[in-house]
Amino acid sequence: MNIAFSGTGYISKIHAQAARNLGAQLVAVVNHRSESMAQFAQQFGIARQHADVGEMLRAGGVDVLVVGTPNYLHAPEAIAALRAGVHVLVEKPMALNAAEARAMLDASTNAPALLLVAHCWRFDPEVLWLRARAQAGELGQIIRTKGYGVHANWGPTGWFTEARFAGGGALADMGIHAIDTVRFLLGDPQPASVYARIGTHYKNYDVDDTGVIIVNWAGGVSSYIESGWWQPHCDGREAATQLYGTRGIGSIFPTHTTSTNATGAPTVHPSGFAHPRADHSPQSLYDAQLGYFFDCIRQQRRPVPGAAEGLCNMRIVDAAYESARSSEVVHL
Ligand SMILES: NC(=O)c1ccc[n+]([C@@H]2O[C@H](COP(=O)([O-])OP(=O)(O)OC[C@H]3O[C@@H](n4cnc5c(N)ncnc54)[C@H](O)[C@@H]3O)[C@@H](O)[C@H]2O)c1
Repeated sequence: MNIAFSGTGYISKIHAQAARNLGAQLVAVVNHRSESMAQFAQQFGIARQHADVGEMLRAGGVDVLVVGTPNYLHAPEAIAALRAGVHVLVEKPMALNAAEARAMLDASTNAPALLLVAHCWRFDPEVLWLRARAQAGELGQIIRTKGYGVHANWGPTGWFTEARFAGGGALADMGIHAIDTVRFLLGDPQPASVYARIGTHYKNYDVDDTGVIIVNWAGGVSSYIESGWWQPHCDGREAATQLYGTRGIGSIFPTHTTSTNATGAPTVHPSGFAHPRADHSPQSLYDAQLGYFFDCIRQQRRPVPGAAEGLCNMRIVDAAYESARSSEVVHL
């Protein structure tokens, strides 16, 4: 598997390490900044350096492109690669908005190449542990969920805080993790409606840093989701989700289920995972994600999360921003 990377920042280094751990050939890197590109190439022993994705694709010899650039480059870079027959792992959020995500879905449908949208929490052992129990019916019928993607006393800088590069702020950056995780835990229901209150309260930028979102899913479950940067408090580490069912609750971070008997007495079923975990986003999460994508490519099967899952999340994000602007419920 010959793999290339676009972007040489935080997440690209993690993906490059994953590619190394999986024994792939790291063949090319793309960045507009030659200095950080040279440093990345040296760190990972990559021979080819390109100023843009088009140049890299024309040179050929690449099977997989990892898109780890600012969000405004995700759609153009992924679509160019898919059209050239190169498989793409694109970072979340998939694009600036649902319209771009739809164009990516079309490109992946019309190409022989595959597209994975890096909603990495679907590969987390604790998320998978809870999902298996929820799907087996241990919690009864799930009625509502509560979750968040929040940075307390911290927030990103640079392109993340400019709407033209990022599309949105904490919702597009952190809230989307909580949205995708709960959707995965619930078995990928379609959103029926979204109501949101979103604002900018902690710094001076043109994106959001505070959000509360309510998603009503087809089938009747309601999800309450918080997104934030620079929040003065967070209930735990940067993300957690709870599922509330008719026979108990399930939680990730800390990860357990608690069932209730006829008298309401709770029994905790521990997962065995340490809490808090040493590293909230360990390298092994990204190794599992890339390993899964390589398996999909070898077996020529559509990856999940793919374009459809990424697009669904972008529709929810777009609807939340629209709801916050209009103060109305947005029906999807
Ligand atoms: N799944 C996860 O856990 C996770 C974690 C972090 C970031 N991400 C996603 O990965 C993507 C990249 O995030 P990151 O944290 O690696 O960002 P970063 O700022 O560390 O790196 C961005 C890279 O893109 C390059 N770049 C190209 N054009 C640019 C421009 N106009 N302005 C700024 N940089 C430009 C930079 O040189 C840099 O190499 C984002 O979409 C982000 O949401 C995902």
